[in-house]
Amino acid sequence: MGQDRTVTKRHPIGVFDSGVGGLTVVRALRSAIPGEDIIYLGDTARVPYGSKSPRTVERYALACQQFLLDRGVKLVLIACNTASANALPALIAASPVPVIGAVEPGASSALAATRNGHLGVIGTLGTIRSGAYATAIHSRNPEAQLSALACPLLVPLAEEGWTDDDIARLVAKRYLVQLFAQDREIDTLVLGCTHYPLLKDVLAQVGSEIAGHPVAVVDSASAMAEAAREALGSGANRRSTAGRLDCFATDTSRLDELAPRFLGEPLTGFELVDL
Ligand code: DGL
Repeated sequence: MGQDRTVTKRHPIGVFDSGVGGLTVVRALRSAIPGEDIIYLGDTARVPYGSKSPRTVERYALACQQFLLDRGVKLVLIACNTASANALPALIAASPVPVIGAVEPGASSALAATRNGHLGVIGTLGTIRSGAYATAIHSRNPEAQLSALACPLLVPLAEEGWTDDDIARLVAKRYLVQLFAQDREIDTLVLGCTHYPLLKDVLAQVGSEIAGHPVAVVDSASAMAEAAREALGSGANRRSTAGRLDCFATDTSRLDELAPRFLGEPLTGFELVDL
């Protein structure tokens, strides 16, 4: 635990990601617990985390979390699978308030969705290499069959907004053919990256075509929002008016164009910060 301090239900929730993908989690939070104020930080100057070493990701993630703690947040959400997979223990150890990662809620959603226990997970290189999904899934169900594949090209596709065209379908096919070659029986695909929900429809369609049976696609966003509601308990802000959303980023280029795509609503803007 880091420094002691008192938080009240009126304090904001802190959310961080390497970039804009974590806004998919903010979107779920604003729908599940609309009265909460949220502070969002995108470490856009240092994105991507997915190709960096675990030690570098941990160092960057700790700086992001400290930025949020310095603004008095009552709860931290790591809206980045790569940071969750590589830095969760260090982030929990450094925080005086609860910390929720993306991997555990994603693993629970996947196990709730599967009918035959055959799961596939896709994410960045750093997330897949960490083995964090395998650990989280097997600690809940040692019998589950898990196949995993890094799909680095899906992040730029989501950012570019090429999420429902021939290029998206070709890239999805190229990756998912490899994943389903590991296990034909996969019936549930876990999106282990906060960018991927933008490609959910294409991944579900292409995955089902390759498998020859329906493939459910799950992501962590709504499960993280549910975990946040549970963690807050009586500390939730239950006012009826919508909470504030204050966004910060370590680089603000292209954010006006990119951010609304992930948040699903217009944004007033990002304040530039230096960690
Ligand atoms: N936010 C990252 C994740 O969810 C994807 C982008 C990156 O590589 O930093 O893993």
